[in-house]
Amino acid sequence: MSYWTVAVYFIKPSYEQINELIARQVKLLFVDEVEIGRQHLTLVDALNAKVRDDGMRVYSQKQARDAGVDDATYYGFWSSEMSEYLGGKAEVRVMQAQHLQVWIRPPQAPSIWIKVTLNSGINEDQLSPLTLYLLVIGALSVIGGWMFARKQNKPLRRLQKAALSVSKGSFPQSLPLEGSTELVEVTNAFNRMASSMKQLEQDRALLMAGISHDLRTPLTRIRLASEMMVEEDEYLKDGIVNDIEDMDAIINQFIAYIRQDQQELVELISINRLLKEVADAETHRDVDIALELGHCPDISIRAVSIKRVITNLVENAYRYGGGWVKISSYTTKSAVCFRVEDNGSGIDEDQIETVFQPFTQGDSARGSVGSGLGLAIIKRIVEGHLGKVTLCNRKEGGLCAEVELPIE
Ligand SMILES: Nc1ncnc2c1ncn2[C@@H]1O[C@H](COP(=O)(O)OP(=O)(O)OP(=O)(O)O)[C@@H](O)[C@H]1O
Ligand SMILES: [Mg+2]
Repeated sequence: MSYWTVAVYFIKPSYEQINELIARQVKLLFVDEVEIGRQHLTLVDALNAKVRDDGMRVYSQKQARDAGVDDATYYGFWSSEMSEYLGGKAEVRVMQAQHLQVWIRPPQAPSIWIKVTLNSGINEDQLSPLTLYLLVIGALSVIGGWMFARKQNKPLRRLQKAALSVSKGSFPQSLPLEGSTELVEVTNAFNRMASSMKQLEQDRALLMAGISHDLRTPLTRIRLASEMMVEEDEYLKDGIVNDIEDMDAIINQFIAYIRQDQQELVELISINRLLKEVADAETHRDVDIALELGHCPDISIRAVSIKRVITNLVENAYRYGGGWVKISSYTTKSAVCFRVEDNGSGIDEDQIETVFQPFTQGDSARGSVGSGLGLAIIKRIVEGHLGKVTLCNRKEGGLCAEVELPIE
């Protein structure tokens, strides 16, 4: 478009002007009777004698050929225009030597060539105005495109970040409505979705807090009452206290599953420290805990949540294992990983996926305490950290649970 505009509105008119000027000069040459023969002049000499301009010379066919008219390029549109100006069939050729040379064969005398040298004009050494103009237009278009893309990309990137943080369980402030209409609409929809998700989450947390609170109060009352039971019912009392402790633990798991520690801040911490803390806390139990910690860089995590993951895994290993637990850690290119292994009976292969679902317990849990929420909580927390948790049966027997947390 730019090329066309420049060609039609700048280049063409100036060529037309040059053409017309040359045509006028050529016409002037033939205005008066050319004095041929009076002083034994040929037509060429007679015309040359009339030329008042340094840039103009008249040649005979032979002279013109010697001067290189055959190498000049024929221009059709220029020729037809010249023919119109001169009122007969003219031929125009152009040669780009040191200066621009225009060769014209006038209709008045087709046997001669008139050469017009244009001193100023398009010099190939210099950047032509058209090229310059196109370069500027090109540069401006690229800059404009870049700015436009940036303007579109910024809200998109912001949206991506916000979506990621929602998937991690934290709800960002509503995003500013910027960019193209479509982007504004998408951002608007996202804002609405995020705020209704936040509302849902809050309602659920409130509901759970209410239920657990309301359940705990009667539990405490029952426990108090059991303390006041007569001595003969001691065996009854022990059963009640045990049940109450189980129920309390289950309520705690419920709350942990629902709450997901949204308020907890992300901090840079060593996973080895958490693993060691959990191992130390388990020493009171009758288990043999083997710690095998590799080198791990500090990573940004919600420490309390990740500690709950480790505790839940160790608790499972202790509960369903055979008295031996191994905790190990290592680093891969993109993630920090840790494993909790035990020497129990493991999980049936076909159950490995289902035990992650809330309230699902395997065969090994038959008749035991627990709510079946442990692994569901683990999965939620690990996925909230964009990590991965996998279970597999060890060759030696027992289960191996592995958690991968991305370093970025
Ligand atoms: N280390 C393990 N060895 C064998 N089976 C396991 C092991 N860990 C988990 N399981 C099986 O997976 C099921 C689900 O485990 P999960 O931790 O989710 O629930 P739970 O331990 O039964 O209850 P909770 O953890 O809520 O107290 C368990 O019931 C058990 O059958
Ligand atoms: Mg468990």
